[in-house]
Amino acid sequence: MVDKVLIATEKPFAESARNSMVKMFQEAGLEPVVLEKYTDPKDLLAAVADVSAMVIRSDKVTKDVLEAGKNLKLVVRAGAGYDNVDCASAKARNVIVENTPGQNANAVAELTIGMMVMIARAKYSGKSGTELKGKRLGVHALGNIGTIVASLGRAFGMDVCAFDPFLDQCVFDECCVGCITKIEDLYSTCDYVSVHIPATPETIKSINYALLSKMKKGAALINTARAEVIHEEELLKIMEDRPDIKYASDIAPKNSAAFMEKFADRVFFTPKKMGAQTAEANTNAGLAAARQIIAYLKEGKVLNQVNP
Ligand code: 3PG
Repeated sequence: MVDKVLIATEKPFAESARNSMVKMFQEAGLEPVVLEKYTDPKDLLAAVADVSAMVIRSDKVTKDVLEAGKNLKLVVRAGAGYDNVDCASAKARNVIVENTPGQNANAVAELTIGMMVMIARAKYSGKSGTELKGKRLGVHALGNIGTIVASLGRAFGMDVCAFDPFLDQCVFDECCVGCITKIEDLYSTCDYVSVHIPATPETIKSINYALLSKMKKGAALINTARAEVIHEEELLKIMEDRPDIKYASDIAPKNSAAFMEKFADRVFFTPKKMGAQTAEANTNAGLAAARQIIAYLKEGKVLNQVNP
Protein backbone atom coordinates (compact mmCIF):
# COMPACT_ATOMS: atom_id res chain seq x y z
CA MET A 1 0.00 0.00 0.00
CA VAL A 2 1.22 3.51 -0.83
CA ASP A 3 2.15 5.62 2.20
CA LYS A 4 0.21 8.86 2.54
CA VAL A 5 2.03 12.04 3.65
CA LEU A 6 0.09 14.98 5.07
CA ILE A 7 1.24 18.58 4.60
CA ALA A 8 -0.74 20.33 7.37
CA THR A 9 -0.22 24.08 7.44
CA GLU A 10 -2.68 26.43 9.07
CA LYS A 11 -0.34 29.14 7.75
CA PRO A 12 0.48 27.80 4.27
CA PHE A 13 3.88 27.61 2.62
CA ALA A 14 4.46 29.74 -0.48
CA GLU A 15 2.64 27.99 -3.34
CA SER A 16 5.88 27.22 -5.19
CA ALA A 17 7.35 25.51 -2.10
CA ARG A 18 4.19 23.48 -1.48
CA ASN A 19 3.98 22.40 -5.14
CA SER A 20 7.63 21.27 -5.10
CA MET A 21 7.00 19.23 -1.95
CA VAL A 22 3.94 17.57 -3.53
CA LYS A 23 6.02 16.71 -6.62
CA MET A 24 8.84 15.26 -4.51
CA PHE A 25 6.43 12.99 -2.63
CA GLN A 26 4.76 11.85 -5.86
CA GLU A 27 8.09 11.11 -7.52
CA ALA A 28 9.12 9.10 -4.47
CA GLY A 29 5.98 6.96 -4.84
CA LEU A 30 4.17 8.52 -1.85
CA GLU A 31 0.68 10.02 -1.82
CA PRO A 32 0.65 13.67 -0.67
CA VAL A 33 -2.41 15.10 1.07
CA VAL A 34 -2.61 18.86 1.61
CA LEU A 35 -4.53 20.56 4.43
CA GLU A 36 -4.05 24.33 4.43
CA LYS A 37 -5.64 27.28 6.26
CA TYR A 38 -7.76 25.05 8.48
CA THR A 39 -9.50 26.83 11.30
CA ASP A 40 -10.96 23.87 13.19
CA PRO A 41 -8.47 21.48 14.93
CA LYS A 42 -10.97 18.69 14.10
CA ASP A 43 -9.94 19.04 10.45
CA LEU A 44 -6.40 18.09 11.44
CA LEU A 45 -7.68 15.10 13.45
CA ALA A 46 -9.57 13.86 10.38
CA ALA A 47 -6.69 14.51 7.96
CA VAL A 48 -4.08 12.70 10.05
CA ALA A 49 -6.18 9.53 10.45
CA ASP A 50 -4.58 7.43 7.69
CA VAL A 51 -1.21 9.07 6.97
CA SER A 52 2.24 7.61 7.69
CA ALA A 53 4.03 10.95 8.06
CA MET A 54 3.23 14.62 8.27
CA VAL A 55 4.91 17.97 7.66
CA ILE A 56 3.84 20.85 9.88
CA ARG A 57 4.85 24.43 10.67
CA SER A 58 3.54 25.97 13.92
CA ASP A 59 0.57 23.59 13.76
CA LYS A 60 -0.22 22.05 17.13
CA VAL A 61 0.46 18.34 17.28
CA THR A 62 -1.25 17.41 20.52
CA LYS A 63 -1.80 14.04 22.17
CA ASP A 64 -5.20 13.96 20.42
CA VAL A 65 -3.63 14.49 17.01
CA LEU A 66 -1.09 11.75 17.71
CA GLU A 67 -3.84 9.37 18.85
CA ALA A 68 -5.89 10.17 15.75
CA GLY A 69 -2.87 9.32 13.56
CA LYS A 70 -3.22 5.56 13.81
CA ASN A 71 -0.51 4.92 11.15
CA LEU A 72 1.62 7.94 12.00
CA LYS A 73 5.35 7.20 12.26
CA LEU A 74 7.01 10.57 11.66
CA VAL A 75 6.22 14.25 12.23
CA VAL A 76 8.59 16.75 10.63
CA ARG A 77 8.40 20.32 11.85
CA ALA A 78 9.48 22.39 8.82
CA GLY A 79 11.30 24.93 10.95
CA ALA A 80 13.35 25.18 14.11
CA GLY A 81 11.09 25.43 17.17
CA TYR A 82 9.13 22.30 18.07
CA ASP A 83 7.37 23.62 21.17
CA ASN A 84 4.10 23.06 19.25
CA VAL A 85 4.57 19.28 19.30
CA ASP A 86 3.83 17.05 22.28
CA CYS A 87 7.17 15.25 21.95
CA ALA A 88 6.65 13.07 25.03
CA SER A 89 3.33 11.72 23.76
CA ALA A 90 4.92 11.15 20.37
CA LYS A 91 7.73 9.18 21.99
CA ALA A 92 5.24 7.13 23.99
CA ARG A 93 3.55 6.17 20.71
CA ASN A 94 6.89 5.55 18.92
CA VAL A 95 6.32 8.51 16.63
CA ILE A 96 9.58 10.18 15.60
CA VAL A 97 9.63 13.99 15.69
CA GLU A 98 12.19 15.86 13.58
CA ASN A 99 12.86 19.51 12.77
CA THR A 100 14.80 21.21 9.97
CA PRO A 101 17.31 23.38 11.86
CA GLY A 102 18.73 26.45 10.16
CA GLN A 103 16.57 26.27 7.05
CA ASN A 104 14.56 29.41 7.77
CA ALA A 105 17.20 31.19 9.88
CA ASN A 106 18.10 33.83 7.31
CA ALA A 107 14.47 34.90 6.89
CA VAL A 108 14.03 35.32 10.65
CA ALA A 109 17.32 37.21 10.95
CA GLU A 110 16.34 39.63 8.18
CA LEU A 111 12.98 40.30 9.86
CA THR A 112 14.83 40.94 13.13
CA ILE A 113 16.99 43.63 11.53
CA GLY A 114 13.92 45.03 9.75
CA MET A 115 12.14 45.41 13.08
CA MET A 116 15.20 47.09 14.59
CA VAL A 117 15.26 49.62 11.75
CA MET A 118 11.53 50.16 12.16
CA ILE A 119 11.92 50.90 15.87
CA ALA A 120 14.99 53.11 15.22
CA ARG A 121 13.01 55.11 12.66
CA ALA A 122 10.05 55.84 14.96
CA LYS A 123 7.89 53.25 13.18
CA TYR A 124 8.17 55.22 9.92
CA SER A 125 5.90 57.87 11.41
CA GLY A 126 7.79 60.82 9.98
CA LYS A 127 9.36 61.70 13.35
CA SER A 128 13.15 61.93 13.51
CA GLY A 129 14.75 58.62 14.41
CA THR A 130 18.21 57.22 15.04
CA GLU A 131 20.65 54.96 13.19
CA LEU A 132 21.83 51.46 14.03
CA LYS A 133 25.46 52.31 13.21
CA GLY A 134 27.54 52.70 16.36
CA LYS A 135 24.87 51.22 18.63
CA ARG A 136 25.44 48.11 20.72
CA LEU A 137 23.51 44.97 19.78
CA GLY A 138 23.13 42.14 22.26
CA VAL A 139 22.21 38.76 20.83
CA HIS A 140 20.43 36.58 23.38
CA ALA A 141 21.48 33.08 22.16
CA LEU A 142 23.93 32.57 19.34
CA GLY A 143 22.32 29.72 17.37
CA ASN A 144 21.50 29.59 13.66
CA ILE A 145 19.43 32.79 13.76
CA GLY A 146 21.47 34.67 16.34
CA THR A 147 24.65 34.09 14.32
CA ILE A 148 23.14 35.69 11.21
CA VAL A 149 21.66 38.57 13.24
CA ALA A 150 25.13 39.18 14.68
CA SER A 151 26.70 39.24 11.23
CA LEU A 152 24.01 41.57 9.83
CA GLY A 153 24.39 43.81 12.88
CA ARG A 154 28.13 44.04 12.24
CA ALA A 155 27.42 44.95 8.61
CA PHE A 156 25.32 47.85 9.91
CA GLY A 157 28.34 49.04 11.92
CA MET A 158 26.95 47.90 15.26
CA ASP A 159 29.07 46.79 18.18
CA VAL A 160 27.82 43.21 18.62
CA CYS A 161 28.00 41.00 21.69
CA ALA A 162 26.14 37.84 22.65
CA PHE A 163 25.11 35.72 25.61
CA ASP A 164 24.99 31.95 25.17
CA PRO A 165 26.09 29.78 28.10
CA PHE A 166 25.99 26.62 25.95
CA LEU A 167 28.78 27.71 23.60
CA ASP A 168 32.57 27.78 23.78
CA GLN A 169 34.53 31.03 23.45
CA CYS A 170 35.72 29.91 19.99
CA VAL A 171 32.17 30.26 18.58
CA PHE A 172 32.04 33.89 19.74
CA ASP A 173 35.48 34.45 18.23
CA GLU A 174 34.43 32.89 14.90
CA CYS A 175 31.40 35.20 14.80
CA CYS A 176 33.56 38.18 15.82
CA VAL A 177 31.20 39.07 18.67
CA GLY A 178 31.96 39.88 22.27
CA CYS A 179 31.17 37.12 24.76
CA ILE A 180 28.90 38.16 27.63
CA THR A 181 28.92 35.69 30.49
CA LYS A 182 26.17 37.25 32.65
CA ILE A 183 22.75 37.73 31.08
CA GLU A 184 22.21 40.91 33.14
CA ASP A 185 25.25 42.46 31.44
CA LEU A 186 23.69 41.87 28.00
CA TYR A 187 20.51 43.68 29.02
CA SER A 188 22.28 46.50 30.88
CA THR A 189 24.83 47.44 28.21
CA CYS A 190 23.00 47.08 24.88
CA ASP A 191 20.88 49.52 22.89
CA TYR A 192 19.13 46.60 21.18
CA VAL A 193 18.64 43.15 22.67
CA SER A 194 17.54 40.51 20.19
CA VAL A 195 15.98 37.35 21.63
CA HIS A 196 16.68 33.98 19.98
CA ILE A 197 16.01 31.40 22.70
CA PRO A 198 13.58 28.50 22.22
CA ALA A 199 10.43 28.15 24.34
CA THR A 200 11.17 25.43 26.89
CA PRO A 201 9.99 24.91 30.50
CA GLU A 202 13.24 26.66 31.58
CA THR A 203 12.91 29.69 29.28
CA ILE A 204 9.16 30.38 29.34
CA LYS A 205 8.57 33.75 31.12
CA SER A 206 12.33 33.91 31.85
CA ILE A 207 12.61 37.45 30.45
CA ASN A 208 10.97 39.04 33.45
CA TYR A 209 10.78 42.35 35.34
CA ALA A 210 14.08 41.81 37.14
CA LEU A 211 15.96 41.31 33.87
CA LEU A 212 14.09 43.97 31.90
CA SER A 213 14.67 46.52 34.65
CA LYS A 214 18.40 46.26 33.86
CA MET A 215 17.86 47.55 30.31
CA LYS A 216 19.94 50.50 29.21
CA LYS A 217 18.12 53.84 28.92
CA GLY A 218 16.23 54.08 25.63
CA ALA A 219 16.92 50.45 24.70
CA ALA A 220 14.70 48.24 22.58
CA LEU A 221 13.90 44.55 23.00
CA ILE A 222 13.35 42.69 19.73
CA ASN A 223 11.67 39.30 19.99
CA THR A 224 11.55 37.07 16.92
CA ALA A 225 11.74 33.92 19.05
CA ARG A 226 8.55 33.08 20.96
CA ALA A 227 6.07 35.37 22.77
CA GLU A 228 6.06 32.89 25.67
CA VAL A 229 9.67 33.52 26.70
CA ILE A 230 8.69 37.02 27.81
CA HIS A 231 6.83 37.44 31.09
CA GLU A 232 4.03 39.46 29.52
CA GLU A 233 2.53 40.99 32.68
CA GLU A 234 5.97 42.02 33.90
CA LEU A 235 6.86 43.50 30.51
CA LEU A 236 3.69 45.60 30.69
CA LYS A 237 4.69 46.74 34.18
CA ILE A 238 8.28 47.66 33.24
CA MET A 239 7.04 49.58 30.20
CA GLU A 240 4.80 51.57 32.54
CA ASP A 241 7.68 52.20 34.96
CA ARG A 242 10.26 52.86 32.22
CA PRO A 243 8.81 55.11 29.48
CA ASP A 244 12.10 54.85 27.56
CA ILE A 245 11.93 51.10 26.74
CA LYS A 246 10.60 49.83 23.39
CA TYR A 247 9.42 46.37 22.36
CA ALA A 248 8.99 44.79 18.94
CA SER A 249 7.79 41.23 18.57
CA ASP A 250 7.08 38.79 15.76
CA ILE A 251 3.63 37.84 17.03
CA ALA A 252 1.65 39.90 19.46
CA PRO A 253 1.46 39.22 23.18
CA LYS A 254 -1.87 37.82 24.43
CA ASN A 255 -2.92 41.20 25.79
CA SER A 256 -1.72 43.20 22.79
CA ALA A 257 -4.63 45.65 23.15
CA ALA A 258 -3.25 46.85 26.50
CA PHE A 259 0.20 47.38 25.01
CA MET A 260 -1.19 49.24 21.99
CA GLU A 261 -3.47 51.38 24.12
CA LYS A 262 -0.70 52.40 26.54
CA PHE A 263 2.43 52.47 24.40
CA ALA A 264 1.42 52.67 20.72
CA ASP A 265 4.60 54.60 19.79
CA ARG A 266 6.89 52.17 21.61
CA VAL A 267 5.65 48.77 20.47
CA PHE A 268 5.30 46.90 17.20
CA PHE A 269 3.71 43.48 16.65
CA THR A 270 3.31 41.43 13.49
CA PRO A 271 -0.28 40.23 12.95
CA LYS A 272 0.87 36.63 12.42
CA LYS A 273 4.24 35.03 13.12
CA MET A 274 6.07 35.91 9.93
CA GLY A 275 9.80 35.50 10.60
CA ALA A 276 9.94 32.46 8.34
CA GLN A 277 7.28 33.70 5.95
CA THR A 278 9.37 34.06 2.79
CA ALA A 279 9.34 32.00 -0.40
CA GLU A 280 13.00 31.13 0.16
CA ALA A 281 12.55 29.99 3.76
CA ASN A 282 9.44 28.00 2.84
CA THR A 283 11.35 26.29 0.04
CA ASN A 284 14.39 25.57 2.23
CA ALA A 285 12.42 24.26 5.20
CA GLY A 286 9.63 22.59 3.19
CA LEU A 287 11.96 20.69 0.87
CA ALA A 288 14.24 19.69 3.75
CA ALA A 289 11.17 18.30 5.54
CA ALA A 290 10.11 16.43 2.38
CA ARG A 291 13.62 14.98 1.98
CA GLN A 292 13.62 13.82 5.60
CA ILE A 293 10.22 12.12 5.19
CA ILE A 294 11.31 10.36 2.01
CA ALA A 295 14.59 9.30 3.66
CA TYR A 296 12.64 7.74 6.51
CA LEU A 297 9.79 6.10 4.62
CA LYS A 298 12.00 4.80 1.80
CA GLU A 299 15.31 4.09 3.56
CA GLY A 300 14.52 4.07 7.28
CA LYS A 301 16.91 7.02 7.86
CA VAL A 302 16.22 9.24 10.86
CA LEU A 303 17.55 12.82 10.55
CA ASN A 304 17.34 15.69 13.05
CA GLN A 305 15.23 13.78 15.56
CA VAL A 306 14.22 15.96 18.52
CA ASN A 307 12.52 13.31 20.69
CA PRO A 308 15.18 10.57 20.95
C1 3PG B 1 10.46 28.30 13.58
O1 3PG B 1 10.44 27.89 14.74
O2 3PG B 1 11.05 27.69 12.67
C2 3PG B 1 9.83 29.61 13.24
O3 3PG B 1 9.21 30.16 14.35
C3 3PG B 1 8.92 29.55 12.06
O4 3PG B 1 7.61 29.15 12.35
P1 3PG B 1 6.51 29.05 11.19
O5 3PG B 1 6.90 27.96 10.28
O6 3PG B 1 5.23 28.76 11.89
O7 3PG B 1 6.47 30.37 10.47
